[in-house]
Amino acid sequence: MDKSTHFGFKTVAESEKASKVAEVFHSVAGKYDVMNDLMSGGLHRVWKHFTLTTSGVRAGDRVLDIAGGTGDLARGWAKRVGKSGEVWLTDINSSMLTVGRDRLLDEGVILPVSLADAEKLPFPDNYFDAVSVAFGLRNMTHKDKALAEMCRVLKPGGRLFVLEFSKVWKPLAPFYDLYSFKALPLMGKLVANDADSYQYLAESIRMHPDQETLKQMMLEAGFGKVDYHNLTGGVVALHKGFKF
Ligand SMILES: C[S@@+](CC[C@H](N)C(=O)[O-])C[C@H]1O[C@@H](n2cnc3c(N)ncnc32)[C@H](O)[C@@H]1O
Repeated sequence: MDKSTHFGFKTVAESEKASKVAEVFHSVAGKYDVMNDLMSGGLHRVWKHFTLTTSGVRAGDRVLDIAGGTGDLARGWAKRVGKSGEVWLTDINSSMLTVGRDRLLDEGVILPVSLADAEKLPFPDNYFDAVSVAFGLRNMTHKDKALAEMCRVLKPGGRLFVLEFSKVWKPLAPFYDLYSFKALPLMGKLVANDADSYQYLAESIRMHPDQETLKQMMLEAGFGKVDYHNLTGGVVALHKGFKF
């Protein structure tokens, strides 16, 4: 008997979740970037900039971006590591990856792109100096497996950056709920002709582990030390995991 998990607020069989998540991202891929700017008022750029600038990633490093979608972080990593470094843009979804690859090529950024499931990474042990996953972990069926894979492919001394929606500061919660459950699906309907995917977005954020729970999960996945920073009142948190 298949175990159950959540897809937003719905309970589904574990074997169904990945295909439901795939439907969401096949549907939104073409409008993903414009919706990201619109929904966050451009803040996602600030959160990603913070991730890049506080990372300590240097010229020559090898970096893996998981669930990289349309390539924002991969582009930032490529600038930081320069010609002597190596950056992989990966995602499980071909529509998101195609948009990302084409966008980077149009900008003159050439890097390896791979269709890859975070739960079964096609990379050797101890290979990368840094791994990132932005707004992707929330969608994964077995987050424990994915985190363990991220730890496996990192070199000892390497770092994982998990940028993800998190538990918002309590006084902000009523406004945030109103925005998430009323405005987001409406914007999704008007701009991407898809209210359901943006309803899923709001629900999946509420179902995602809070800051301390995710920290504990990262420690259990094999990281020696984990710190996190709340951004925008906890709307988003950046967790940094260090592999010893
Ligand atoms: C909200 S988008 C984030 C894209 C990009 N990282 C960003 O910050 O703009 C989430 C991405 O996670 C990807 N994803 C979901 N499950 C995944 C898995 N198991 N392995 C790899 N990518 C996955 C989706 O295909 C989608 O492109």
